[in-house]
Amino acid sequence: MNVLIVGGGGREHALAYKVASSPVVERLLVAPGNPGCASLERTQVFPQIKADDLAGLLELARNERVDLVVVGPEAPLVAGLAERLHDAGIAVFGPDARGAMLEGSKIWAKELMRKHAIPTAESRTFEDYERAVQYLDHVPLPVVIKADGLAAGKGVTVARERDQAIAVLRRIMLDKAFGEAGRRVLIEDFLSGPEVSVLAICDGKTLLPLPSAQDHKAVYDDDRGPNTGGMGAYCPAPVYTPALARDVDEKILVPIVHALHREQIDYRGVIYAGLMLTKNGPRVLEFNVRFGDPELQALVPRLPGDWVPLLHAAAEGRLETFDSGALVEDQRPSVCVVLTSGGYPGDYRTGYEITGLDDVAATMPDVLLFHAGTARDEAGKLVTAGGRVLNVIAQGNDFAAARARAYEAVEKIHFTDRHVRTDIGRKALDLSA
Ligand code: AMP
Ligand code: GLY
Repeated sequence: MNVLIVGGGGREHALAYKVASSPVVERLLVAPGNPGCASLERTQVFPQIKADDLAGLLELARNERVDLVVVGPEAPLVAGLAERLHDAGIAVFGPDARGAMLEGSKIWAKELMRKHAIPTAESRTFEDYERAVQYLDHVPLPVVIKADGLAAGKGVTVARERDQAIAVLRRIMLDKAFGEAGRRVLIEDFLSGPEVSVLAICDGKTLLPLPSAQDHKAVYDDDRGPNTGGMGAYCPAPVYTPALARDVDEKILVPIVHALHREQIDYRGVIYAGLMLTKNGPRVLEFNVRFGDPELQALVPRLPGDWVPLLHAAAEGRLETFDSGALVEDQRPSVCVVLTSGGYPGDYRTGYEITGLDDVAATMPDVLLFHAGTARDEAGKLVTAGGRVLNVIAQGNDFAAARARAYEAVEKIHFTDRHVRTDIGRKALDLSA
């Protein structure tokens, strides 16, 4: 079969790596892709077709006789890519626009959770700036302020002081920092506890939970500094015990699938629950409608089988009869370290030559390397081209070994202004020790 992957980051290179290695795949297309995807066998990238170019993607899928489209990022799903492809008779792994509201509107998701008693933080919705400010007098600090719509991961602020909360509300509601996405805001109770990413594959009726993972959002060690898209991940998350997993399945995952079904949404794709494990039990902080980045990268070595039959079965609503025994879990933990451009998530420079990848490939064949923000310059040299540049993933018999191996590879890779967190996976080490 022919498969099209939409997107061009580390997550999409990881997906492309898995799909390109599937014996059932004749051709893999990735739009826009990246230099890492371009080097995979039987794979062609289409850098001119961006992930938000719905018409271009539809035309590509039709012209190239694509059988299955796997959508990486949320924005094209929220914009309605899946239904356009369905109309053309093409199977899609990724929900339609209504299903994608789970991520595309935090208020819609909140209301759905409330209606179905899915545990989440208490919150209030505001359209009016003055009312939102008045509400601050009635709630304890800190509060969490969330723009309703997609805001490229920047729409959430934990405000510890009243002045800060007011400044954030002003920026979102009066200055329209996120445009329409900030027309409405949620002011949410502040919760505390460890966070965990729980992902499950869904075909509208049946759920297949994936191994848990832990993201590292802050840019510096010890979770200091501003939030990023993700500085690293490990898999599985030791805090996510089998008992907790059963609890989450029962109280969160099964009810959300049921809730979507009741809304007449035929949800086919990933349900990603960002959870906080509070003293009172797990609470949903957010739902996403796609694989986590970099959680997915950490998951790759953990699920060594062929993913294409699974993605295809979910896209076609056939998970119930899918033989999940085909996906045997490799029990060894994995650690993914993200190499970034110094300055990210603020301003940073790009265009710096990247060296050392060949050395890693030649001397550490067990280590996975995925490209995120890389490009080829005119001379064909690999250069930095984004905030998150590369992902290095290693497995080990325990977290200490996986960490050591990942950082050994990281030290072989060089570019100007390179930044990495040095503590990815350390929490897992502490917890599993
Ligand atoms: P989100 O984009 O909703 O995952 O939020 C980004 C980050 O903000 C989360 O990973 C949490 O660290 C934090 N956060 C979100 N909601 C809450 C909350 N209700 N209480 C405390 N922290 C939160
Ligand atoms: N790693 C967080 C996310 O993908 O949203």
